[in-house]
Order: sequence, then C-alpha cells, then structure tokens
Amino acid sequence: MLKFSKTSLATKCSPNDFTFQQILGHGAFGFVLKAQHKPTGTVLAAKFQQIIFDPKSDEAKIFSSKASKFRNLKREINGLRRADSPYVTGYYGLMIMEKYVLLCMELMDFTADYLYNEVRKTVDSKTGRFDEKALGIIATSIIKALLYLKFNLELMHRDVKPSNILLNLNGDVKLGDLGLACHIDVSAAKSVAAGSTIYISPEILDGRQQLLPGENKIEFSARSDLWSLGVTLVEIARLKHPYSYCNTETETIIAISMEDPPILTELDGYSVELVKLINSCLTQDPKLRSRVEELVKMKAVEQYENLEQNKTYMESFVKQYMENRERNESSESELLETIRNLKLN
Ligand SMILES: Nc1ncnc2c1ncn2[C@@H]1O[C@H](COP(=O)(O)OP(=O)(O)OP(=O)(O)O)[C@@H](O)[C@H]1O
Ligand SMILES: [Mg+2]
Repeated sequence: MLKFSKTSLATKCSPNDFTFQQILGHGAFGFVLKAQHKPTGTVLAAKFQQIIFDPKSDEAKIFSSKASKFRNLKREINGLRRADSPYVTGYYGLMIMEKYVLLCMELMDFTADYLYNEVRKTVDSKTGRFDEKALGIIATSIIKALLYLKFNLELMHRDVKPSNILLNLNGDVKLGDLGLACHIDVSAAKSVAAGSTIYISPEILDGRQQLLPGENKIEFSARSDLWSLGVTLVEIARLKHPYSYCNTETETIIAISMEDPPILTELDGYSVELVKLINSCLTQDPKLRSRVEELVKMKAVEQYENLEQNKTYMESFVKQYMENRERNESSESELLETIRNLKLN
C-alpha cells in the first residue's frame, strides 16, 4: 500500500488506482510510465524498479529476514518524503510489489542526455559545444542537490549520470532517482552488470573503499558522487562521453583506474571558472578531491545563485531544442503489453 504524503495525494492507494498513459523510458532494471492517480487526478512518473541486491550485502540480509523486512527501505522512503528542494525531483510515495518497487515521482519533461543530444544535432560535431550558461546552471543545480542530500537528508546518490538529471519546459533542473542506490540497488555492482561503468569513480572500481580518518560512509560516497558528476558534466560539455573511445567494459575500467582524469582544458572553450569547477570533481585521489561544501563556494556556482533567473534562462534555452522535438510516444499495444506483464490490472 502506498501512502501519498505530499500535496493533495494524502490517500492510501494500490496500483489499480492509476491509469497508465505512456512509456516514458526504460532503464537497465525497470521502466518509467506516465500515470494518473485516479482519485486525485495527479499526473506523475511511475518508476517500476526491479528489486536486486548483491547477495552478500547487508541489504540482502535485511530483506531476507522476515521480521525486519522493509525496515531499511522504510527509513529510506522517509528520507525521500522529507526531500523538499527545488533541485531534487519530488516523491509522492512508494509501493512494494512482488518483484518491483513502484516509485511515484514528480513528472519531468526530459533528461540531460536527451537535451545534449538535441543540442549536438544543431552544432558542428567537431567544434560545437554546449551553452556555457546552461552548463553552469546544470552544474550548480546538481551540486546544490548533492549538498542538500548530504547535509539535510544524510543520503548519498550513487547514480549521478545524465539520465538522472531531469529537466522540464519551465526551466527546472533536478536530480532524480535520489538515494535509492543505497538500499534498492547496489549501484557499483548494478552499473557494472548493466554495462554502465562509465560514471563510477576510480576508488570504487579499484575497491579502495577505505574511509579517511573521521570520514563516514556518506562522506565517502559523496566524494564518489562528485566524480560521477564531473564525468557527467564533461560529457555534456563535449557533447559526447569522455570514455567513448573505449570499446569494451574492460578498456573503460582500465581507463578510469589508470589514465589521467578526463578533465576539461581551455581548448574546450568554456570559462576558466567553469572549467575549474568541473575539474575539481575529477581529482583522481578521493582524499584530494573537493567536497561538495567547497564546490558551492566556487565562483562558477556563486554566479548562479538566483534560482528564478536560472529558471528563466533555462526555460528559453530548452525551448529552442525541445519545443519541436518529435515525441517518441509508445504505442498503445506496447503500453498494454508492459502493464499486462506487471499483472497490475
Ligand atoms: N521523473 C521522471 N519524469 C519523466 N521522465 C522520467 C522520469 N524519471 C525517468 N524518466 C524517463 O525514464 C527513463 C528511464 O529512467 P530510469 O531511471 O529507469 O533509467 P536510467 O536512469 O536511464 O538508467 P538506470 O536504469 O541505470 O537508472 C529516463 O531516461 C527518462 O527518459
Ligand atoms: Mg534514472
């Protein structure tokens, strides 16, 4: 049973209370549907995420023990419910079904990878780049989201990548899928299994997960999140992934662990301040990597302090690329097949 705790969705409900309208996208371990909550009319994004655990993890033990079955998950959900930041996608609630967790979240319009791919279509593939100000606003928004997670909710993200940066036509930029990595996925294991190692920090890939003196697990993961953010921002800046030259998973792992970090240079054509900010996320040694509370004090972040001004800019920026996009809407039969497989209705 799902208890909606935000806005007007203060009701208990089951999957049958939703009308599923459209497939918004597929991830490695689930998919996202546009849905309407029938009793309140609220339209939202419903993410069906397969429950998978590393069998050796604490989470797996907790989950398999009946008495404490969803204790950890409940703690996590409470964290998500408390999330109230303009930089983090809102959560309405969560339902646990046999093989899936159904997460009800704020409906956004597109992801950062979709946006930069649209931008790439309009610029010269060799010299073209993303917009400096839009990149600065995206960087600032996600840094503020990570700061909020760390200090307000004591959560790490562990899955920062362009498809988890969500935007809308009103100019909002938000970090999605927050915190779930801690208990629903085991992110590094999951990402390796899913073939998306490309955002994982060198220390996680190497298994060098020792905490520094006085450092807790959240602090450790927060630094790794910053590496993933750095790679994400370089990808958007260059309109292609910095490890796209690697042909296999093994080559990527070797490149992340052994090669110099994929930092921006002046040849990339962005301001010194923005390059400095992004490169600060990409220090190879986690001990020397900046902390999120240091990044927010950097000039490139400070100049995007004003949320309303950022929104106005992003609104007109994204509209150039998004207004006439061809909507890749799922066919009705595809949607019906997906719902039938879930055995919901
Ligand atoms: N809140 C949302 N609003 C609108 N669309 C969304 C929302 N969340 C996700 N999507 C869409 O659904 C797609 C799949 O999301 P999902 O989180 O399942 O996978 P992913 O982030 O692409 O990868 P992974 O499986 O590794 O997490 C996204 O790429 C996006 O297009
Ligand atoms: Mg996602």
